[in-house]
Amino acid sequence: MKVVILGTAAGGGFPQWNCNCGRCASCRAGVAGVVPRSQDGLAISADGSEWYLVNASPDIRAQILATDLLDPGPGPRETPIRGALLTDAELDHTLGLLMLREGAGLEVYAPVAALNALQDDFAVQRIVSRYGDWVWFAAKDGMTLGRLRVRVLAVSNKRPKYARADELGPWVVAYRIEDPATGGVIVYAPCLATWPDGLETFVDGASYVLLDGTFFSPDEMSGSTRAGVGSTAQRAMGHVPIAGPDGSLERIRKLCAVQPGTNWAYVHLNNTNPVLDSQSPEYAEVRAAGVKLPPDGTVLDL
Ligand code: MLT
Ligand code: MN
Ligand code: ZN
Repeated sequence: MKVVILGTAAGGGFPQWNCNCGRCASCRAGVAGVVPRSQDGLAISADGSEWYLVNASPDIRAQILATDLLDPGPGPRETPIRGALLTDAELDHTLGLLMLREGAGLEVYAPVAALNALQDDFAVQRIVSRYGDWVWFAAKDGMTLGRLRVRVLAVSNKRPKYARADELGPWVVAYRIEDPATGGVIVYAPCLATWPDGLETFVDGASYVLLDGTFFSPDEMSGSTRAGVGSTAQRAMGHVPIAGPDGSLERIRKLCAVQPGTNWAYVHLNNTNPVLDSQSPEYAEVRAAGVKLPPDGTVLDL
């Protein structure tokens, strides 16, 4: 299986258009080691001929143009992109569906709550159905995409800000995609409110795990912006921090000790996260734990 890491930043990307913090300014100025990152998503294929996106960010057009493997063809209006798996209905993971309306339509898989939000609150389903033959499926544990097997783990009930409160969830899932022909396994979990029950088992034997790395510390938003975005707002954004006793890095260290064969990486990096600067001590700490911070465009053969 081939996996392209199309984007690695959280909503807003890096630098964020309206942010003049030191890191965003350094990134804009082209400082070495502070590289731009687009909003997170993957493209996955068993054989290189049919591709599935995992999440569709508003950067999807630029991401596709930057990825030769996703070039159109062989016919004049053919694309190798067959569908998209959505981990949730957040805008940074779904706005890209609207950008794909020029195609004939896609198969979209998502948690039921997310499908409902995309029908009612943010009517993507109704909008794109006027442009092509789109098909919408509840993401089911054990489903297949060609020869690829997909496992689904419910990870939280964190609802997008725009969505009505009366839908129970689960709102957010993680995906485990396995290629039985090669034994390759990738796990994608870019949105974790807390470390979810069952994640240890879900990543068992994985070749590569891409995890929510939105924030380094639990109160990062209050230190990095002067816009009144405090730690309460950060907690409400619902992302487990990397650092600290309850952070994800400590959990990963423990799992690495028992399962040294798994590669770990952080994605969905928020523009406030100091790991975006490769000269920072926080970057050094993550790398010292053996966890990767892959750039956009990284291709994995699993
Ligand atoms: C999140 O990851 O918390 C959301 O995508 C925030 C947003 O709306 O950008
Ligand atoms: Mn997000
Ligand atoms: Zn910034």
